[in-house]
Amino acid sequence: MPYQHVHLEGTAQTDSVDPDLHAAIKQATPQQKKHVFTIKHGDRQLVVKYPEDKRGYFKAFGERLYFSLLTNHNIPISAFQLKPPKERTHFEAARISELKKLNINVPEVVAVTADYIVLEHCGTRLEDFIRYGYASANKIERLVCNAAEQLAHMHSNQAWHGAPQVRNIMILDNGNVAFIDFEENLEGLPHLMRETYDILQFIGALIVPRYDSQPLIDLTEAAVERYIAIRGPEPLLQLKTYYKYLSTAKKLIKPFGSRVGRDATRIIVLCEMLESLLKREGVL
Ligand SMILES: Nc1ncnc2c1ncn2[C@@H]1O[C@H](COP(=O)(O)OP(=O)(O)O)[C@@H](O)[C@H]1O
Ligand SMILES: [Mg+2]
Repeated sequence: MPYQHVHLEGTAQTDSVDPDLHAAIKQATPQQKKHVFTIKHGDRQLVVKYPEDKRGYFKAFGERLYFSLLTNHNIPISAFQLKPPKERTHFEAARISELKKLNINVPEVVAVTADYIVLEHCGTRLEDFIRYGYASANKIERLVCNAAEQLAHMHSNQAWHGAPQVRNIMILDNGNVAFIDFEENLEGLPHLMRETYDILQFIGALIVPRYDSQPLIDLTEAAVERYIAIRGPEPLLQLKTYYKYLSTAKKLIKPFGSRVGRDATRIIVLCEMLESLLKREGVL
């Protein structure tokens, strides 16, 4: 069904939403517990997302400091500040259309206003595939490697994701990989740093998932290999300084053995993976 575009009173000129859909969203919103929820409209399953005002100055400052230290580059704080909520929906819509041009699977933008963005519902989180074993181990490895290839494809074309953790990667009903969640604004970073930021988010979330699980070292290494085959190792080589911090932290943590928590386990396994990678690439 084609959507009729209307300009809503009091919102930006570019806002576009079908009036029936807008009414349905306004009616459904008060009952929602989360800022992202699904809604059925006609025969379509849609996702409504309201921007959360979730990152203050100090969080952005902390991220800037952390990423500047780990890459050894002085990075402006603007690179870690989200757009104000009223601009973020249009920002996300623009990012989606930019990636669509590169043939990356992204949800169709059904409507966008200054208050919310509406996307077509697309698939199941890759994180849930891994967590609940929705596919065989071989199939999951193919999916993860495919996501890594698509990330490398974005990077090779001067594009980036901003938050490519497995919770923001979807598996469509036809088995293809798609990406969601484009609120991060890395515009202020040099492209190589965006790539480094992305690949670190990707492998950091994959190697030790958010739920209790053994570290997924082989799976992460397979994904890194696929990424490097397309993009080359440069974005990962920027993590040499990060590796050095990790290895100091690892020495402090390791004596506590299996009693360490998930974040500490992530430090240990990421450190070991980066060490063998950096050695293989001849930079250690
Ligand atoms: N287009 C979509 N199709 C299916 N599920 C989605 C879609 N967009 C978001 N979701 C679900 O909502 C969750 C939160 O949305 P996301 O865009 O990642 O926002 P947040 O900034 O809160 O992480 C996702 O992890 C996913 O489970
Ligand atoms: Mg998300």
